[in-house]
Amino acid sequence: MKPKMGLISGVLGFIFLSALLFGKAHGAVHSYYWVVKETKFTKLCTTSTVLTVNDSFPGPEIHAQKGDTVFVTVQNDGPYGITIHWHGVRMPRNPWSDGPEYITQCPIKSGGNFTQEIDLSTEEGTLWWHAHSDWSRATVHGAIKVSPANGTSYPFDEPDGDQTIVFSSWYKANVMDVLDESISTGDDPNVSDAYTINGEPGDLYDCSNETMYSLLVEKGKTYLLRILNSILNEEMFFAIANHSMTVVGSDGAYVKPFSSDYLFITPGQTMDVLVTANNSASYYYMVLTPFLDTDSSYDNTTSRALIKYSGNYTTPTSIPTPTFPNISDSISAQLFVVRLKSLADSAHPISVPKNITRQIFMTVSVNLFACPNSTGCTVDGNNKLAASLNNNSFVSPSTALLQEYYDNNYNVSLIADELPNKPPTPFNYSTVANMSTYTKEGTQVITFEYGDEVEIVFQGTKIGATQNHPMHLHGYSFYLVGTGSGDFDNGTDPSRFNLDDPPEVNTIAVPRLGWSAIRFKAHNPGVWFMHCHFERHTTWGMATAVIVKNGDTNETSMRPPPSYMPPCS
Ligand code: C2O
Ligand code: CU
Repeated sequence: MKPKMGLISGVLGFIFLSALLFGKAHGAVHSYYWVVKETKFTKLCTTSTVLTVNDSFPGPEIHAQKGDTVFVTVQNDGPYGITIHWHGVRMPRNPWSDGPEYITQCPIKSGGNFTQEIDLSTEEGTLWWHAHSDWSRATVHGAIKVSPANGTSYPFDEPDGDQTIVFSSWYKANVMDVLDESISTGDDPNVSDAYTINGEPGDLYDCSNETMYSLLVEKGKTYLLRILNSILNEEMFFAIANHSMTVVGSDGAYVKPFSSDYLFITPGQTMDVLVTANNSASYYYMVLTPFLDTDSSYDNTTSRALIKYSGNYTTPTSIPTPTFPNISDSISAQLFVVRLKSLADSAHPISVPKNITRQIFMTVSVNLFACPNSTGCTVDGNNKLAASLNNNSFVSPSTALLQEYYDNNYNVSLIADELPNKPPTPFNYSTVANMSTYTKEGTQVITFEYGDEVEIVFQGTKIGATQNHPMHLHGYSFYLVGTGSGDFDNGTDPSRFNLDDPPEVNTIAVPRLGWSAIRFKAHNPGVWFMHCHFERHTTWGMATAVIVKNGDTNETSMRPPPSYMPPCS
C-alpha cells in the first residue's frame, strides 16, 4: 500500500503547490466571441437603433463556476470605440482586462477587437458585465452567473429554477445624442423613457403590453432570481405581489438569508433572491419603480412584469400588484441596506481589516463649473454641472492611466496628482448650505502600498443637488462596516461598526446627507477606477483611480501587459 499512498499524496502535493504558485484553483476555461454592433428594436411605439452585443438586449450571459477562467473576444463592429468591464470581478493582478476607458485601456476602435481574460477567484453568485465607455452601458450589458465549484454547493437548498432578471434604462433617442446634448448645455441629461425588466418596459407604457416579460413558475417550486441593476441614473425599489423574497446573496457573495417584501438596489448592485411559488395559481405583478430623494430630474415611470403559474386556471381580471415604500422613502432604503450581512461561517470566512493603515475621509458632491463666455452653458447663468470627490472633479486622461503607470516604471508622481485624504476645507458637511458650489478639476488618484488596510468613509454634502450616491470600486470587493445619517463622527461612529459580519460588496449606497464606511485590504496591485455608478455623475467627474502598488514578489505584483492592448492613437 505504501507506494500508492505516496503517489496520491505526491499528486495532492503537486496540486497544492501549483495552487500556491498560480494563486488560484484550476477551474475550467470558457471562451466567448462577441460582436458589438448596432441593432434596431421597436419599443414604446418607436424604432430605435442601439448598440448591442450579438444583437441582444440585455446582452448574452456568461456562465462559469467559481475559480474558472473566461476569455471574451470583443469584435467592435459598432460605429465608435467601446470598452467592456466585468463588474465585481476582482481580476487578481490583472487590471489589463478590467476595461474602464482611459483608466486601464483605450477604447476598442470601430473594426478592432480585443480579447480579455476574466479570472474568477472568490466570487460566487451573480455579477455582470457592461460597456465602460461613454454611456454605451445603456444597452451593452449582461449577467455573469458564477455557480459553486464542483464538489461544493449553495449555502441553501438547490433551487428548482434559476432566472436572471435585468433592469435597464430605455431611451427612444440615441443615448450618445442624449449625452452629447447634456455636455453641450452643461445641464442634466434628458431622463430615460422607460425602465425595462429583461428588456421589456411592461404594460404601463405605450405599445408594450404584448411583449411584457413573464416568468413561468410551478406551484410549490423555489426559484433563484439573479437580479442586476444596470439602470443609468436611478436607484430602484422592486417587489412581487403576494410573494416575499429571501435575499441570499449580493454582488457575488452570499449573505445571511433574510426575507423582505421589497428590494432596494442601486445601479451596479446585484441581488440573489429566492422566491417560492406558494400562492394560488394565477398571475402576479413584479414591479420596478425608482427611489429618489433629490430635486434633480429623473425618470418617474414604473416597469412591470408578470409571474405566471403553470396549470389550468382562469386568467385573473385584476392582477395583484405589490405595495411599495414611497418614492423618496430613504428610511426604507436604508433599512434594507443594513439587513445585508455576510455569512461569516467556516465555509465562507471573512477577514475585515482591523489595523487600519490608511484612513480616507471623502466628500461626495454635485457641483458647478463656470463656463467661458458664450459656450452655451445654461445652468444658474453661465455654468455647467460638475461632481467631485474631496472637491476634485476627475478629468479622464486621453491615454490609459494603467499603461502610463507601467511605462513610467510604476512611478505614480509622473502620471497624476494625489487626491487629498480628506476634504481640503472641513465644514459641517450635511448641514452647511452656503459652501461654494464651485469645484476644481484634475486627474487625481489615491495611492496605496501593497497590503495597506484601508478604510474609506464617503460623506454626502449639502452642496448642490443632494441625493444618494452608489459608489463602486473596481478590482476589489470590500466590507460595508457602517452607514448613517448626518456627519460621520470619528469619535463615536466607529464603535458601532459591524466588524463581525459586514456584507462583502462592490457597490454601496451613500445616503443623501449621510455617510457610508468601507474597509478592505489593498492586496490587488493595479490601477482601479472608483466612481459613482450614476452615469451622469461619472461623466461630471465623481470619480478617481485607486493605484495599489506592487508588493515585493512576482505573486504580489501586477502581471505584465498582454501582447496586445487596444492602441490609444
Ligand atoms: Cu459597473 Cu466602473 O463599473
Ligand atoms: Cu452620484
